[in-house]
Amino acid sequence: MSMLSQRHLLGIKQITENDIRLIFDTAKNFKEILQRPIKKVPSLRDITIANLFFENSTRTRVSFELAEKRLSADTINFSASSSSTKKGETLIDTVNNILAMKVDMVVMRHPNPGAHMLLAKHIDAQIINAGDGTHEHPTQALLDAFSMQEKLGDLAGKKVLICGDIKHSRVALSNIFCLQKLGAKVRVCGPPTLIPKFIDSLGVEVSYDMQESLRWCDVANVLRIQLERQDIKYIPSLREYNIAFGITSSLLANLDKEIVIMHPGPMNRGVEIDSDVADSKHSIILQQVENGVAVRMAVLYLLAGKKE
Ligand code: CP
Repeated sequence: MSMLSQRHLLGIKQITENDIRLIFDTAKNFKEILQRPIKKVPSLRDITIANLFFENSTRTRVSFELAEKRLSADTINFSASSSSTKKGETLIDTVNNILAMKVDMVVMRHPNPGAHMLLAKHIDAQIINAGDGTHEHPTQALLDAFSMQEKLGDLAGKKVLICGDIKHSRVALSNIFCLQKLGAKVRVCGPPTLIPKFIDSLGVEVSYDMQESLRWCDVANVLRIQLERQDIKYIPSLREYNIAFGITSSLLANLDKEIVIMHPGPMNRGVEIDSDVADSKHSIILQQVENGVAVRMAVLYLLAGKKE
């Protein structure tokens, strides 16, 4: 069996193009299995996986749990809001106590950027990052790129627009790393206040003109305005954001070509994307969610084979 170069999936930054292609090839096989009447395979029988969510999630949490069940793993689900972390227990103590119950792998979402890297220095189990603050969300980037590739073919030379709240987005950073490793051209677009200064150093194009950026791209991955992370006012109002940067059907109607519309969710309908675009034939938003299960199955399967 081919192997990933890393023992953990902490971020896309740490993995290679070969790793990404191996994950995609494996996900393609799992996606085919998921179309069958019997969707379950015994690949991870006797492996126990802890899903540790220190921050809210719908898609990622359900998708990982389903992927684990389809692979016949045993799973436990931990939610920080109902745990002893509320009594002051540290992250490392919490995880080591869970691992003492013979858990093999950890899937974790945590609000602190770098929490997974710290954990990797202190625990023995494989770790998958399900989102760390504003830093990385590697499985989201993998499922996004997998979905783009399904729609557009090989991504080398394809033009990908990532638009919206880049500053607070872990999806943006992981997408940039992943798409560049696959040879795509990446541009970010949004209001200057929501595009971080360091973005230039990553070799992406920057634009503040949404209509021109939509004309440039083959696919637009629309990011949500992260209302919970707006510590100061980065935009005058949601209404004004929608007028200047929201993806509307009239913007798409002005293009002389069809582009693919994506969104990692959760969506703010009527803010960064209008409902008639989100639900249109351009949108592959629900295909992204569907592909998430197969991609996460591939990551779990490949990492479970990497004990050392
Ligand atoms: N895309 C994503 O991470 O969604 P959730 O926050 O619902 O997991």
